[in-house]
Amino acid sequence: RGREGGGEAVTTAREVAQRIVSGRGLPEETAGRGRAPANIALVKYWGKRDEELNLPVTGSLSISLGPLGSEVEVSPAEGPHDAIWLNSAPQPLTGVFARRASAYLDLFRPAPGYWYEVKARNTVPTAAGFASSASGFAAMARALDDLYGWGLSIRELSVLARLGSGSAARSLQDGFVEWHAGSAPDGMDSYGERLPAEWPELRMGAVVLCAAEKPVGSREGMKRSVETCEFYREWPGRVAADLAALKDAIARKDMAALGTVTEGNALAMHALMAATRPPIVYALPETVAAMRTVWAARQEGLPLWFTMDAGPNVKLLFEAKDEARVRGLFPEVQVVAPFG
Ligand code: DP6
Repeated sequence: RGREGGGEAVTTAREVAQRIVSGRGLPEETAGRGRAPANIALVKYWGKRDEELNLPVTGSLSISLGPLGSEVEVSPAEGPHDAIWLNSAPQPLTGVFARRASAYLDLFRPAPGYWYEVKARNTVPTAAGFASSASGFAAMARALDDLYGWGLSIRELSVLARLGSGSAARSLQDGFVEWHAGSAPDGMDSYGERLPAEWPELRMGAVVLCAAEKPVGSREGMKRSVETCEFYREWPGRVAADLAALKDAIARKDMAALGTVTEGNALAMHALMAATRPPIVYALPETVAAMRTVWAARQEGLPLWFTMDAGPNVKLLFEAKDEARVRGLFPEVQVVAPFG
């Protein structure tokens, strides 16, 4: 997709990164620091038009989780390889975390054989089921900007974060963030932008049903859906309608409308996954039980909705006034107030 006419990449991620930062300097500080919030999509990103640059087929819209996210410190290092730390533990170079971090740093090395030390810390409780790769790459882009003194705009930082992980494009700002799909082959118009809206009463709850690693990662899963799911062609139209309805719900602070769009969009994404070949089903029996609990409670008048990502855990959406009732239904829920 987007690469027809040969396997060779039209534009590489390093070319895009260098175009943004070139001529802006070498390390001014001995260390750069950055932090970024985690985000949960209300209208989901599922499918790329360009895998090298993480360019999406559709736009998406998320809510940032305020203090929950990642902090990164980056500094030049002696070598002869990067030194990567996560939550104070040195990461093996052959491990997934260090490999992904080093591949991202490759986009920014002034010369081959230039090494970095990265100290990453997740302020998301590790078992909370909130993805940390989006906040991690966003915090890394900010830390590099701080180290080099580039003075990049939010939009440029969002483009750089996207090169690490698509959903990271939405982790540069708080509140509601829309990731514009864009149409430029180099992706310079594919970035996250905050909506001018506040919703202090909004709450998101994480219900962790299984902390084990997921069978199929998002990256592999969405590629498979684009290639094999015959309903995928319906997805862009559905997302366009959901994005319009969600933005309208946010502008009117209409909880029922926001919940309806969010829950429906997540279920539609999981239907795409199930119709992928071979099928991808993330739900466990506990996931389905949680969904039924939400539906039954709603039937009884509780304004409560859910969303799910590429995993079995469920995130709840409700307003502050209903928190006690939600905790009654899900005693283990971890509640976040995205607007502080
Ligand atoms: C289901 O952003 O993790 O959470 O771009 O390959 O790094 P890559 O994928 P990633 O996918 C997130 C998928 C999702 C939906 C969403 O966050 O919009």
